[in-house]
Amino acid sequence: MKKITKICCIGAGYVGGPTMSVIAKQCPEIQVTVVDINQDRIDQWNTDDLDTLPIYEPGLKEIVGERRGKNLFFSTEVDKAIDEAQMIFISVNTPTKTYGKGKGQAADLKFIELCARNIAKVAKDDKIVVEKSTLPVRTAQAIQNILDNTGNSVKFEILSNPEFLAEGTAIEDLIHADRVLIGGNDTPSGQAAKDALSAVYEHWLPKERILQTNVWSSELSKLVANAFLAQRVSSINTISALCEKTDANIQEISRAIGFDSRIGPKFLNASVGFGGSCFQKDILNLVYIARSYGLNEVADYWEQVIIANDYQKSRFAENIISSLYNTISGKKIIIYGWAFKKDTNDTRESAAIAVADALLEERAEIIVYDPKVSEERIYADLDYLNTRSPEENRRLLKVTKDPVEVTKDAHAIAILTEWDEFKTYDWKTIYKQMLKPAFVFDGRRLLDNDTMQEIGFNYYKIGQS
Ligand code: NAD
Ligand code: UDX
Repeated sequence: MKKITKICCIGAGYVGGPTMSVIAKQCPEIQVTVVDINQDRIDQWNTDDLDTLPIYEPGLKEIVGERRGKNLFFSTEVDKAIDEAQMIFISVNTPTKTYGKGKGQAADLKFIELCARNIAKVAKDDKIVVEKSTLPVRTAQAIQNILDNTGNSVKFEILSNPEFLAEGTAIEDLIHADRVLIGGNDTPSGQAAKDALSAVYEHWLPKERILQTNVWSSELSKLVANAFLAQRVSSINTISALCEKTDANIQEISRAIGFDSRIGPKFLNASVGFGGSCFQKDILNLVYIARSYGLNEVADYWEQVIIANDYQKSRFAENIISSLYNTISGKKIIIYGWAFKKDTNDTRESAAIAVADALLEERAEIIVYDPKVSEERIYADLDYLNTRSPEENRRLLKVTKDPVEVTKDAHAIAILTEWDEFKTYDWKTIYKQMLKPAFVFDGRRLLDNDTMQEIGFNYYKIGQS
């Protein structure tokens, strides 16, 4: 088996950056080069001030600081990195298509195809090409076709190695991965490629956690894993609505059912709805794939997970409006948290965007505080919806760096991300300076019911009447 000494990763994003940093840390003898066409992003990865890396993940800056310039490099020289590497990871974005056939559901594979064509054009010796991006089942076949028909007759072995890290815990998830999945051909060269990639992970993971499968199972497993996880959140969120009508308590239910070892306690936190770049996109893609094979019932089943999630977000916003006497026009509402979960600066598909948009439709005056998300990002997320003009968004919604001061004369606070710091605020001071009755709508079940009520708040916690 050929030993891998040079790796290239195309795509320096939330997956490429942390994954390659961990490989570089755990495999000092492997040279890892992460390339991207986005010059700004690469400049940010190369910044001297490690607090301004493009991605915030606990533990990431320490690893980049340790390995960068030694065996970890960030560059825009895509062709050079492809040429030099024996193993090339493709970790580019695969967003939901916004145009043409499959619009709104299918994965947009244009970036993947561009990468495959680029590899075919540049490669002068045999390469192992690794699908790291999340892809529809059977994409490897399309990549193989492109590589075999446009290349310089060099031999390519394609592997599927989907990434299971979650944002906010990426480094921890990579270092202590539950499992690594490697799909490849059952031919001798396919087996050799799978073993070469296994050897990289065996630097720090026990062999029994590295699973080898055929390519198609590996590609499909990633979509299925995300669909199952998202389904749990949507399932518990539908029950949170029922709890609010019946005096049952969602936390007690999560605990009660989670004790059943067949169900387990994880991923049962009721919330304002799941967000993130993966769940919605991957389920929509699964729905599209099922429908394209004529499996309408299968497609409908999974689509309901998304419908339930949309319901949870709009239900939360409607509750704010009705609690504030059915009129929020001109009322000052503070949003705590814009990221789709704590410990990340990623806002893709964040529930906060949908909730803010619904409140803005009712002409509320919104002020947002998030410890890690930039003002530009918040406005970009809102503008992308196209619900109203960018000027209108900037007029109605402001962004603050001072979460406590801003609550002066506010009518309500909505907690939309579970940042730990929200628990440490001086809620008595906040209460004193808000207008009365002072409302807190807790979409993350972060605060204590009794304490908040004792202070005097009208406190609504999702899943509790
Ligand atoms: P991202 O948008 O953060 O990063 C993708 C990067 O690829 C961007 O910087 C972009 O400039 C670059 N890129 C696009 N086309 C390129 C090209 N032709 N050449 C060079 N660079 C190019 O995306 P991400 O969140 O890292 O996700 C990447 C993939 O991993 C997706 O398929 C996603 O579904 C999957 N995934 C994401 C997560 C997650 O938590 N974000 C987890 C598991 C899997
Ligand atoms: C997810 C998968 O967990 C990960 O394995 C995959 O590789 C990428 O997609 P990520 O989107 O980064 O990771 O975060 P995750 O922790 O899964 O949370 C997704 C969303 O669900 C967040 O908005 C989170 O707040 C929400 N969630 C999660 C809940 O509302 N309740 C829960 O119990 C768990």
